[in-house]
Amino acid sequence: MTRVAVLHGVNLDALRRRDPAIYGSFTLAELEDQVRRFGEELGLETSFEQTNHEGEYCELLHRAGEEVRGLVLNPGAWTHYSYAIRDALEVAALPAVEVHISSVDDREEWRRRSVIADLCVGRVQGKGLDGYREALDILRGALAA
Ligand code: DQA
Repeated sequence: MTRVAVLHGVNLDALRRRDPAIYGSFTLAELEDQVRRFGEELGLETSFEQTNHEGEYCELLHRAGEEVRGLVLNPGAWTHYSYAIRDALEVAALPAVEVHISSVDDREEWRRRSVIADLCVGRVQGKGLDGYREALDILRGALAA
């Protein structure tokens, strides 16, 4: 099976303690169980990481090229401003899909900006957990192309 990594960034470990109207009421562990099943349905083996430390997220990206064929990225708030993560994604040199649980374009102005979007083969937002299935499907398509 093709291996892909799902990398969760800052504050995603606090799912269920964050506003349920925006983020739903599932925990990160529940999300990962479901995303693992989505992956299996699509013929993808998923691995998961979460960190609240920007440098660690960069290091995960540095290593990813040796471990997996593609990436599903939800860097949380870093999405909107972290050039360090953008640069690290270039180092990874892998197809990546950006995903957000919430509809970032319909929230505060500052969430509309993504500093990684143009390096990604797709972007999914506002579809909750199901958005991860869509992201994996986009990734599978990119890997098959
Ligand atoms: C998020 C959206 C970001 O704006 C926010 O900072 C997050 C989560 C999402 O999944 O909807 O932490 O990436």
